[in-house]
Amino acid sequence: MYSTMAKRILTAAAIGLASTGAIVGASAQQQARQAPAQTQPAEPAKDYNQRALEIYEFRKAAQSGPARGQEIYFYKCWMCHNELAQGGAPKLGGLFKRTTLVTGDPLNDDTVRSQIRNGSANMPAYKHVMSDADVNDLVSWLHDEKCCWNSDAPPLNPRYKGSAAAPAKALYGALTGGPKGLVKNARGEPIEGIMVQLIADATAIRTTVFSHADGRYEFPKVAPGAYTLRIAKPREFYPWSKEKVAIKGADALEDITLLRVTPGEFLPPFPAIAAQLTGSEWLQNLPGTGEEKKTLTVYCNFCHEYQQIFRNRYDENGWAKIIFRMTHGAGSPLINIRNPGRLLAADEAKFAHWLATVRGPDSKDPNFVVQPRPQGRPTKVVITEYELPRLDISAHDTSGDAQGRVYYSTHRSSYVGRLDPANGHV
Ligand code: HEC
Ligand code: HEC
Repeated sequence: MYSTMAKRILTAAAIGLASTGAIVGASAQQQARQAPAQTQPAEPAKDYNQRALEIYEFRKAAQSGPARGQEIYFYKCWMCHNELAQGGAPKLGGLFKRTTLVTGDPLNDDTVRSQIRNGSANMPAYKHVMSDADVNDLVSWLHDEKCCWNSDAPPLNPRYKGSAAAPAKALYGALTGGPKGLVKNARGEPIEGIMVQLIADATAIRTTVFSHADGRYEFPKVAPGAYTLRIAKPREFYPWSKEKVAIKGADALEDITLLRVTPGEFLPPFPAIAAQLTGSEWLQNLPGTGEEKKTLTVYCNFCHEYQQIFRNRYDENGWAKIIFRMTHGAGSPLINIRNPGRLLAADEAKFAHWLATVRGPDSKDPNFVVQPRPQGRPTKVVITEYELPRLDISAHDTSGDAQGRVYYSTHRSSYVGRLDPANGHV
């Protein structure tokens, strides 16, 4: 049980987000998309309850502004610009109090933006991966007096609601016997393996079940109250979501009809779909030789997922700098630089060349092929996700105690967390 719990917490730990504003009612959203789908598939509307999308776009802490800039900084800049990293990147805290850059050029908003966009001898150019809005958010964080990263105070998770949770004996009355319903396609046929999710308004705890071969799904007995009912991983379908669904007990919920993004087999490479690909789907979809892909699976899969790599675009030079930090940096935060690195220098160069081919400034994604959805026994699971109070902590090493509480360590901070799985309180 606790290893399952560990996975849930890890999922939740990596996440969070600011409220999205209006999530359009399912039918209106889908009708608006239905007509053009016959000819040119229309891009799915963005549902930021979709964690994968929130992560992909750096919107866990906020939709925009300095808090979003901090998140971008953590993922893209901290690895070189931190107080411990060997390799000599200037500290960026208090940057705008200085008058000149290390190059001797005057220091102002324009020159800092240009440094970020164009990079320099030892820094990648970010103009291929960051939009003007991204750079604005990042620069607003560089202006903030709290910049740049404080491992004793990682960002707050705006979704966390457990602090005031009332004590409870258990989260679910039973693992079956809760709200239930049917998922079908536009032709009225049942669909199997669809993840149906309830997010409790009161606690933000998410409960996900799968539809079975007859399209039917059934939730555990959840506490009465208001919930968001949604499809957790719509992928080849348009997002479906309905807020403020009143749950009293074993309610029969309205049928969910899902519309495919395209009538064809292959999925257009829209960002909202790219964000949902698993690592093995990325491997399957990107062009490349066995050698190139094996290099990725051997050298790039033990600290973070492939999504973190493939949401980027750099030129070959930029990739070479990233690969250097990733394969010479020691320990998971890449602090000390070791020579030689894990790859031979010639192989580093080859690998940078491949990444710049599939993830360069001009790379075009092919249409995506995705793995089949689960069928049969694997659909008989309940997934529970908890929000943790802080973001970007890289929660690790969960374990439980005799009272059923779950402890986790925060890999990127010096605190230990204790979660009560009955009510989500940390
Ligand atoms: C691979 C390491 C690396 C990464 C990643 C990196 N930088 Fe740099 N950055 C450097 C180095 C090294 C310099 C000093 C100039 C040089 O040697 O190229 C620098 C210089 C700068 C400067 C000029 C500082 C000064 O005092 O003149 C700014 C601003 C800057 N980086 C911002 C960023 C931001 C923002 C990000 C994230 C989007 C980032 N850097 C990512 C290595 C890196
Ligand atoms: C030893 C651990 C480690 C390994 C192995 C590793 N990385 Fe990373 N990577 C990090 C860390 C730490 C960050 C900073 C963000 C974070 O903490 O998640 C990062 C961030 C990145 C980013 C920026 C992510 C973003 O969010 O935009 C890219 C790109 C990247 N890594 C590519 C690679 C590639 C390519 C490989 C294989 C050559 C690789 N990484 C292997 C630790 C690692």
